[in-house]
Amino acid sequence: EQIEKGGYEHFMLKEIFEQPSVIKDTYRGRLLADRGIVRLGGLEDYIEKFINADRIIIVACGTSWHAGLVAEYIFEDLVRIPVEVEYASEFRYRNPIISEKDVVIAISQSGETADTLAAIKLAKSKGAFVYGVCNVVGSTISRETHSGTYTHAGPEIGVASTKAFTTQITVLAMMALRLAKAKGTISQSDFMLYLRELELIPNHVEEALKTDDKIAEISAVFKDARNFLYLGRGYNFPVALEGALKLKEISYIHAEGYPAAEMKHGPIALIDEHMPVVVIAIKSDHYDKVVSNIQEIKARKGKIIAVVSKGDTAVRELADYVMEVPHTPEALSPLVTTIPLQLLSYHIAVMLGRNVDQPRNLAKSVTVE
Ligand code: G6P
Repeated sequence: EQIEKGGYEHFMLKEIFEQPSVIKDTYRGRLLADRGIVRLGGLEDYIEKFINADRIIIVACGTSWHAGLVAEYIFEDLVRIPVEVEYASEFRYRNPIISEKDVVIAISQSGETADTLAAIKLAKSKGAFVYGVCNVVGSTISRETHSGTYTHAGPEIGVASTKAFTTQITVLAMMALRLAKAKGTISQSDFMLYLRELELIPNHVEEALKTDDKIAEISAVFKDARNFLYLGRGYNFPVALEGALKLKEISYIHAEGYPAAEMKHGPIALIDEHMPVVVIAIKSDHYDKVVSNIQEIKARKGKIIAVVSKGDTAVRELADYVMEVPHTPEALSPLVTTIPLQLLSYHIAVMLGRNVDQPRNLAKSVTVE
C-alpha cells in the first residue's frame, strides 16, 4: 500500500497532487490547441443530437453532481442550450418529464452508482439519448449509456473525490467547446483562447499546489472550528458546495456551501467571530459583488479565508487569510479554485486525526439506493 501511495501519506493527498498530470491525460489526443482542434471520439457522431436538443439534463450524485453544476454554467454560457442538473435520486422518483428531444448526461466516477444508473434507465425508457462521463473503464454506467467519454483520471482510492472532479470538468468543458463550435455560439477567437487556456490548466494547478504549506498553516488556525461557511458566485458557486462537501466528508466538521448573494437570506445570521467563511473571490465579472459580500462578513466579525487571483490586493486587505490561485478565464476557474479547498479539508482532517482515505459511514461507490 505504501508503494501505491507513491510516497504520500494518504491516497487523497496523492490524488490531489496527481491532478496536473491526470488533467493532461484527460485531454491528451483530444485537445490540440495550436491546431484549433478539440475532438472527443464518443461525441463526434452525436453532435447534431446535442445541438438540436431541447435541453440537456445532467444526472449525478455527490461530487459528480457538483461537476454537473459547473457544466450547467459552461454549457449555457458557451453552447446556449438550457441545462438542468438533477440529483439522480430525486430525478428517478419524481415522474420527470423527458422526451426524445432531451439529451441526458450522466456523470459518475465509479460508473456504478445505483441512483445514477436507475436515472439512466428511466431516461432511456422515455426515448432520451444518454451520454456518460465516467472514470472507470467498462463500468456499468459506461455500458448502459448510448455513448460517452472517459475521464482517464486513473484509479481514485480516497473516498473523497478530488481528481475525478477536475477531470470530469475537463471533459465537460471540452464537450461544451466542441458543441459551441459546431453550433456557432462561440467566436473563433474565444474558441482558440479557451483551447489554449485549457491546455494551461495543468500548469495552473501545479502552481496552486505550491501553496500547500501556507494552506496547512491556515488549517492549523481553523481546525477546531465547529462550522464553516463556503461562498462563491457564478461558476464558483458549485466550487463552494464542493469545498464544503470535502470538509464534511473527511473532517466531520459541519460546513455549508452557499451562493454568496444568498447569504443575506439566511446564513448571515450565523456569522460571528467563531465562524470561518471561505470565500472564492477571484477576479471575475462578480468580483466587486464578492468584495461587498466580504465586507458584510467582516462587519459581523466573521473570519475570512479567501481564494484570490494572484496579485490581488483589494480582497487581501479585507481577508484574514488568502489562498492564491493563477488567473484563468472564469469558465475554467473551478479547475484551479477547487485545489486550495481540497488541501484545506485534507490538512484539517489530518490534524484532527481523522481517517482521511476511509471516512466513517461513507463508501467510495454507492451501489445501493
Ligand atoms: C459516493 C462517494 C462520492 C461520490 C458519489 C458519486 O458518495 O463517496 O465521492 O461523489 O458517491 O459517485 P460516482 O462514482 O457516481 O461519481
